Amino acid sequence: MIFETNFSLKEYNTFGIDAKAEQFVAIHTKEELANLLKNHKDIFILGGGSNMLLTKDINKLVVHIDIKGIEVIDTNEDFVWVKANAGENWHHFVLYCIEKNYGGIENLSLIPGNVGTTPIQNIGAYGVEIKDTFFSCEAMKIDTQKLVTFDKESCTFGYRESVFKNELKNQYIITSVTFKLTKRNHTLNTSYGAIETELATQNIVSPTLKDVSNAVIAIRESKLPNPKELGNSGSFFKNPIIPIEIYKKAIANYPDMPHYKISESEVKVPAGWLIEQAGFKGKRFGDAGIHKNQALVLVNYGNATGEEILAVSKDIQETIINKFGISIEAEVNII
Ligand code: EPU
Repeated sequence: MIFETNFSLKEYNTFGIDAKAEQFVAIHTKEELANLLKNHKDIFILGGGSNMLLTKDINKLVVHIDIKGIEVIDTNEDFVWVKANAGENWHHFVLYCIEKNYGGIENLSLIPGNVGTTPIQNIGAYGVEIKDTFFSCEAMKIDTQKLVTFDKESCTFGYRESVFKNELKNQYIITSVTFKLTKRNHTLNTSYGAIETELATQNIVSPTLKDVSNAVIAIRESKLPNPKELGNSGSFFKNPIIPIEIYKKAIANYPDMPHYKISESEVKVPAGWLIEQAGFKGKRFGDAGIHKNQALVLVNYGNATGEEILAVSKDIQETIINKFGISIEAEVNII
């Protein structure tokens, strides 16, 4: 284990914020992790750094989980159980599965971040969420270093939610995730409008896993900035789920407002629409801004600080509540 001091985290967060870690160490095995946790209590866990905004330096030991490895742990005629260690890059894992003809996560192509953090916020895109193929995950309890296996039920997944963001926050470090994927008779989920359009454009009638993945990649590349070129953390806000009464009030003034029914009493409204209508799409404030193709994504044009991006996000939230009576919540973790 190599301990660094006063270490820049710029390359370790997709927003590209130049915050410093008082100390930094990368961990490559579960044994190393257990040893470290025995001796260090005041730590900050860092996975792929793709879902956080660093607004200050971290005056702690930052532990970067870099445990690699993918392994098939069980298989039958129809399904395969694939275990990926927490430090595997998510998109590499998706491509590995497509290559082997394992189906179920192709719609989640090109999402930044590492495997270990995917269950924490139940990542999702184009009609698919991680919970749909999640089988179990293994996590180390920080105070006892015991490894615990969580099945799907015990993760209590919701829209961008899980037990790891709530009741068990900061108590466990996920070390691996096991997915149950299809080996044949794949259930392709192409119902999301943009995927159908993209496949039709390419004249694909019977898409393969690879075709769906390529369609998703094309859509994402057209809408979402590549963090390597323009710092960002994907959707900065969650799409708000609001009571029907609030929705009725808003729609009276904004009849074009899109919405998706969640239950008899709640609807989900695209935050990107609210932000665009409030005039923020494509705006720039110094080096912080709102992406020109997807208003839900805040971007760092180079040297924005986390505080500057946070200030823009607060401005957006206040404007939206005043204009529509709807409050929008950050999806990224603000540190
Ligand atoms: N919209 C606008 N303007 C915008 C963006 C969106 O009006 O600038 C409206 C449109 O009405 C559009 C609707 O929002 O039809 C939905 O837009 P989109 O399909 O781009 O999806 P989203 O709701 O904005 C969510 C996820 C994305 C995911 C896409 C596709 C959240 C917070 N975000 O965005 O996830 O890729 O659906 O499934 O749920 C992420 O979490 O980092 C992420 C990128």
